[in-house]
Amino acid sequence: MNLERERQLIGRMGQRLPEARDLRDFYAHGEVVSRLAVLVAQELGMSEEFCREIEIAGMLHDIGKLELSDVIYGNSRDILAVERSKYVRMHPALGIDVLRKEGVYSEEVISFIANHHENFDGTGYPYHLEGEDIPYGARILRVCDVFAALVSNRRYRAAFSVDTAIEMMIDDVREYDMKVFLAFLKVVYSEEFGEVRKLIERALQQDAEDAAKETAK
Ligand SMILES: [Fe+2]
Repeated sequence: MNLERERQLIGRMGQRLPEARDLRDFYAHGEVVSRLAVLVAQELGMSEEFCREIEIAGMLHDIGKLELSDVIYGNSRDILAVERSKYVRMHPALGIDVLRKEGVYSEEVISFIANHHENFDGTGYPYHLEGEDIPYGARILRVCDVFAALVSNRRYRAAFSVDTAIEMMIDDVREYDMKVFLAFLKVVYSEEFGEVRKLIERALQQDAEDAAKETAK
């Protein structure tokens, strides 16, 4: 399936990002979430239409963050950490406005994105929804998003291995829809996961190349 339109939207909005690397990470994270979410949806027996919607939502789930590029990605010392996290918490809702303006995205896609930080036990944000009040697609995105973040490098820590990431997620399993989580585990240990693993490894490889260039400077 094709995500050209979504890539263009990210490219357009990502122009304000301070570093080219941030944009690359944004694509890479979206790709992993999108691919993995489709596999989980297929494992759950969802329709083709649903799978297409979750594929798009996976790619664009953090689009609201690009509206806040300066505060989220910038290094401004004027912004306190607590303030920054308040802004970060706005990004799922900001995604709604961005996608409505585009005029081509279904309300399903928009609702998956708006709710991708809600937790099954009600501890998520921004609406503090619980259980089945959270759209199904958002429950799938939640699991895939957390996993994709754990297996990638962050500014403040190195990537965790797939096995460690899963152990960490099991510790917080109350945050996930158990049916979705079990389908996700099945996918991770399936042959199809190979394509997701390749995307994860490619991103780590690029980070390593960047680090090597930095030290060579
Ligand atoms: Fe997010």
